[in-house]
Amino acid sequence: MRILILSRNPALYSTRSLLRACYRAGHQAKVIDHLLCDLLIEKGKLNVSYQGELLRNYDAVIPRIGTSVTTAGTNVVRQFEKMGLFSTTRADAILRARNKLRCYQILAAEGIDVPKTLFPNFIQVDSVLIDDFVKSPNVIKLLESTHGLGVILSESLNNATSTIEAFQRMKHKVLVQEFVEESNGTDIRALLVDGHVIASMRRQALEGEFRSNLHRGGTASIEKLTEQEKFLCRKVCRILGLDVAGVDILRSERGPLILEVNSSPGLEGIENYTGIDVAGSIVRYLERRMQKRKNYRLNKI
Ligand SMILES: Nc1ncnc2c1ncn2[C@@H]1O[C@H](COP(=O)(O)OP(=O)(O)OP(=O)(O)O)[C@@H](O)[C@H]1O
Ligand SMILES: [Mg+2]
Repeated sequence: MRILILSRNPALYSTRSLLRACYRAGHQAKVIDHLLCDLLIEKGKLNVSYQGELLRNYDAVIPRIGTSVTTAGTNVVRQFEKMGLFSTTRADAILRARNKLRCYQILAAEGIDVPKTLFPNFIQVDSVLIDDFVKSPNVIKLLESTHGLGVILSESLNNATSTIEAFQRMKHKVLVQEFVEESNGTDIRALLVDGHVIASMRRQALEGEFRSNLHRGGTASIEKLTEQEKFLCRKVCRILGLDVAGVDILRSERGPLILEVNSSPGLEGIENYTGIDVAGSIVRYLERRMQKRKNYRLNKI
């Protein structure tokens, strides 16, 4: 197979791991930066030009689209899909999962339990509503937070109101969320490939910190999921249309809550802590999908 890995940086662990997995399985693979792709569109014919050359005869793409370039990245993924390449993650699924608000709206409407979340209007902060709906302490999150940066624990209502006002003054949109205190600075990351949980770990925040992100100094250990949690992860991925995803769970008194869903999950932490070859699983999933497509085409002839 000829595979394109969309990544801004070929030196990143996840990119290198995927590239190695492609080579190990005997495929040709190339890393391209989605921000350097030119998209050519005309009747019945779509192409991608990369550094002056048309990308031809590729079979599949593995997108690794970072939060800061979601729109540009998904435009490129969609172009490849329309050209008939198979993508391990579809552009519209990336868009559904990427925006925290949109993701919560979709999941909650399907009956998935998520932390109670308020998206305040942008003109006048309603303190009474915050107090009634999410209570204090609560968690304020920038819509575009990443690696735990822009996620703030607010101890009091006064503090929450002034923090939201300050962010809004700077034209940043935020979510206000119930603080799931009983999760004790831990969350669970489940890695799904082909819609099934293949690896999972528990992340623990540093002493005195509530954010368990490994980038914020959190540590991780292998953690098995309950059947209920596995079922939940599969359902979430089905709803969002993701075959490959990282699903983060907070264990709360009322059961597991979906904290977020990552459509380009980092592989470094999960591969190193669990010893599971996630990149290899992604490539095998890709092979199965390509085989299915081939069989389908043969049956049609
Ligand atoms: N409502 C909450 N209650 C308790 N802890 C929370 C809550 N929201 C977030 N946390 C903690 O803070 C961490 C970071 O929050 P979150 O995952 O929502 O944002 P992010 O990590 O910045 O986003 P991304 O994972 O996309 O980079 C979580 O991993 C979790 O440990
Ligand atoms: Mg997170």
